[in-house]
Parts: sequence; structure tokens; C-alpha cells
Amino acid sequence: QNARESLYVVSQFAANYFEKQLWESEDGRAIGLSYFKERGFREDIIRKFNLGYSPDVWDALTLEAVNQQHVETFLEKTGLSIRNDKGKLYDRFRGRVMFPIHNFTGRIIGFGGRTLKTDKNVPKYVNSPESDIYHKSNVLYGLYHAKKATRDLDNCYLVEGYADVLSVHQAGVENVVASSGTSLTIEQIKLISRFTQNITILYDGDAAGVKASLRGLDMILEEGLNVKVVSFPDGHDPDSYMHHVGASEFKHYIENNRQDFILYKANILLAEAGNDPIKRAEIIRDIVESIAKIPDNIKASVFIRECSHLLAIEERILLSELNTIKSAKQ
Ligand code: UTP
Ligand code: MN
Ligand code: MN
Ligand code: MN
Ligand code: MN
Repeated sequence: QNARESLYVVSQFAANYFEKQLWESEDGRAIGLSYFKERGFREDIIRKFNLGYSPDVWDALTLEAVNQQHVETFLEKTGLSIRNDKGKLYDRFRGRVMFPIHNFTGRIIGFGGRTLKTDKNVPKYVNSPESDIYHKSNVLYGLYHAKKATRDLDNCYLVEGYADVLSVHQAGVENVVASSGTSLTIEQIKLISRFTQNITILYDGDAAGVKASLRGLDMILEEGLNVKVVSFPDGHDPDSYMHHVGASEFKHYIENNRQDFILYKANILLAEAGNDPIKRAEIIRDIVESIAKIPDNIKASVFIRECSHLLAIEERILLSELNTIKSAKQ
């Protein structure tokens, strides 16, 4: 209990340190802050999410923490410091812009740090490791800042990355969270379900994003939540698209281009299948498999009807397929 508290305290200390570096140090301003500004992030958003900068020095944070009487064990347990084979502590995050991760009560539990280099051999993001206070499969980046709007608007936008959360937020859409650093988990869906039963997936418009959204929507259906999907053109992610078209057009776009999961899935799969009748049959089965995940039978039957119209297949054939899949699962 006490040890956990110490991990929170040292994490908060580190967040303050990185934030102070961003705004007050020469490098922080010249490198970190200008990076955020070049990406189009507004100052109020940078402050609201407590973004920071980690100096490009071997042990800047570690030294400052030890100076301030923080205990080495807790620096190691949060992963902020790493012990080398000579027994010396050094910083995990160096020369990166910092995204502190809040739990849903607002306490800082971990960090993501983005490199400023374009070198492909450097990992783009370095994240805090698992610790007694940070279990990444149970955390959604941005949830603390999204809770209220999610409940009020009865919908939660789900994005892939830190930058996406900031940009969507900056566009005035505050009900947005990311499953950063991990693929979507059941625990994360359950966390969202405390605030709303409606999720809208806004994943990257690349192949990986499409694949992740198909997987995500099945998981969301299985948890009994409603799911829609908005896709972005030309490989854009929500962050790049927001800056490409501007805040108001972006907001309009995501509100008016939601597809329910059947339409989304059908469009993707039909485009791949072309006119091949065997492939088209497989698609129908694939879609019915998603519908079979919906626990509520009445909802499922509504989607069967939609599917029937969309794919021009008799409803009774789809229903018999649905029953076959459901009885196979039992
Ligand atoms: P992306 O590669 O889509 O990055 O990864 P991004 O969020 O668009 O980043 P920017 O716009 O280039 O800054 C999506 C998310 O996956 C995690 C991060 O949480 C990232 O935001 N990720 C990605 C990692 O944890 N490590 C990586 O090396 C890359
Ligand atoms: Mn991506
Ligand atoms: Mn991305
Ligand atoms: Mn991006
Ligand atoms: Mn652009």
C-alpha cells in the first residue's frame, strides 16, 4: 500500500520535471516545445495533458530525483530509471517528448516518450514498463480527460495513439481515448462501458489500422456494446487528418461518416472479393460470425435484417447460418 503510494509520488515528480523541462529549459523549448508546435498542438492542449520533454542526457531525471530525496528502488520500479551492469542508474527516457499517462482518477502512472529523430532504428515510442501501478492492458490513454464528455455524449471515440487523442481533443471532441502501446483488451472495453455503451473506432487508415479495427469491433460486440467505425482516406490517422482538413471539418467528418460495423466490414471485404462468388459467400459467413457475437438476440436479428438488405441474401438463410454458428459455439 505504502509502496504503491511511493510509485505514484515518484511518477508525479517525474511528470512535473518533464513538464518544467519543456517550458523552462533551453533545449526543452527549442526542441520539445517547437516539435509540438510544428505538429500543430495548441498550448492549452499541451498544458492540459501535461506534456513534457526529457533532456538528452544520460541521467538527468535520476540525478534530480535522488537530489530531491526520492528512493532509487521506486525510480527502478516505475521504470523511470534503469540500472546498468555496473550498478549505476540511468534514465529510460532521454531526448524525447513525453506523454504522461493518467489513470482514470487523474494520477500519473506511466509515460510514453516519442523520439524526435527520423532514424528508423530508433523506436518511435518508448513506454513505461508494467509496474504495481501501471498495467497497460487496464489503462486507456486520455480517459481521465474524456470521462465527463463520454458520459454526457454517450459515446466514446477510440483511437490508436497519443497524438490522435490530443488532436481529436483539440478539435473540440473530448470523448476520445487510446489503447496506446497495446492492442485493445477486454479490460479496456469494460473500462469504457462504465461511461457509455457506444464506441466509435477511429483507427489509422493503413492496413494495420483496418486489421486492428476488425479485431476490435468483434471484441466490442462480444462485450455487448454497440460499435461504429469511421475510416480515414489516404492512410491518414485522426491526428494527421485533423491537421489536414482543420478542426471543424474534422468534427463534421467523424460525426457524419460513422458506419455501423456491418456496413464497414462488408465494404472492406467486398472490395477485396470483387465478383468471385465463393469469396462473396465467405464474406457473408464472416459477417454473420460477427453478428453471432452479439449477446442480445433482438439486436442480432436487427443486424441480420440489415445484412440481408445490404448483401441481397434472404433473411432466413442468414438466420439459419446464425443458428448454426451459435449452436457450434455452445
Ligand atoms: P503509430 O505508429 O500509429 O504512431 O502508433 P502515432 O500515434 O501515429 O504517432 P505519431 O503521430 O507518429 O507521433 C500508434 C500507437 O502505438 C504505440 C503508441 O502508443 C502510438 O501512439 N506505439 C507505436 C508504441 O508504443 N511504440 C512504437 O514504437 C510505436
Ligand atoms: Mn499506425
Ligand atoms: Mn498513427
Ligand atoms: Mn500519427
Ligand atoms: Mn496533410
